[in-house]
Amino acid sequence: MRALVPLLSLFLLGGQAQHGSDWTYSEGALDEAHWPKYYPHCGGQRQSPIDLQRTKVRYNPALKGLNLTGYESQVGEFLMVNNGHTVQISLPDTMRITDANGTVYIAQQMHFHWGGASSDISGSEHTVDGIRHVIEIHIVHYNSKYQSYETAKDAEDGLAVLAAFVEVKDYPENTYYSSFISHLADIKYPGQSTTLTGLDIQDMLPKNLQYYYSYQGSLTTPPCTENVHWFVLADFVKLSRTQVWKLENSLLDHHNKTIQNDYRRTQPLNHRVVESNFVYLPNQGEGHWHPGRDQSARMHPSSTCHLAP
Ligand SMILES: *[C@@H]1O[C@H](CO)[C@@H](O)[C@H](O)[C@H]1NC(C)=O
Ligand SMILES: *[C@@H]1O[C@H](CO)[C@@H](O)[C@H](O)[C@H]1NC(C)=O
Ligand SMILES: *[C@@H]1O[C@H](CO)[C@@H](O)[C@H](O)[C@H]1NC(C)=O
Repeated sequence: MRALVPLLSLFLLGGQAQHGSDWTYSEGALDEAHWPKYYPHCGGQRQSPIDLQRTKVRYNPALKGLNLTGYESQVGEFLMVNNGHTVQISLPDTMRITDANGTVYIAQQMHFHWGGASSDISGSEHTVDGIRHVIEIHIVHYNSKYQSYETAKDAEDGLAVLAAFVEVKDYPENTYYSSFISHLADIKYPGQSTTLTGLDIQDMLPKNLQYYYSYQGSLTTPPCTENVHWFVLADFVKLSRTQVWKLENSLLDHHNKTIQNDYRRTQPLNHRVVESNFVYLPNQGEGHWHPGRDQSARMHPSSTCHLAP
């Protein structure tokens, strides 16, 4: 009889795990420190996010720019849900990335990680030289050699995530985000969904889509599967303070608590190398990056990456 109790709780936990709402970042028995206990991959050696240390990133001239297709403005019906951890938008399979090796990845969904638990708390997952940015956008894709996301999500070369950081200053409203942000009010409670009638992901991304960091890592939420090819864009999305505040204060989790600080702490790099297709020149001050010599011919003059304000 005694054995039944732990067995039963294990069973219940398993059921909850499938529901995907049991884990948390910082509260309760399944906070991020305890993820590995129930989701063993979370304790692996190739986890994400990581700190991108710019002086240690290896410039790889063979890494061409990503070819994004189907990212432009489109009409249709796109589901947007509060899943209790973040807001997630379902993406059409016409959105694709072709990487430097010709591998094609098909978009599945996009979601966000943010801070906000007190004013001026940033919530990106990756950090750059230890600096956490305000928000991080993840566009999750699966390798087109698989039939579906469901098949790819367990395959060794299954997934790719295109990530971008949001920067906030005294910027005006970014109107490419207006519809998305106004729909947050429709999905206050977990499980609620709404529909976006148009989507313009390209304009929701940074202007410069050419430069990125690339490394092999994992999903940043349970089950933390180590099959993600990360492409982290170097340029930033710019949002107004009001827009950031709305994302940080609109959604509730399964305990009716505002979803805030929904980011995982950075993980050890271990033996991995982060590559980039641009050169970081620390001596020229913050934000001065240079295309590699091999790429300069393909550069449009106005896209020279100068990210300082
Ligand atoms: C980008 O990919 C699309 C679809 O695969 C292809 O038609 C197009 O030629 C590619 N563009 C470049 C610049 O490689
Ligand atoms: C391309 O393939 C090479 C060799 O398999 C690999 O080392 C590299 O990481 C790949 N690059 C991309 C962008 O997939
Ligand atoms: C959350 O709030 C809603 C509306 O007030 C209520 O119906 C629901 O039971 C609450 N859920 C929890 C877990 O407290």
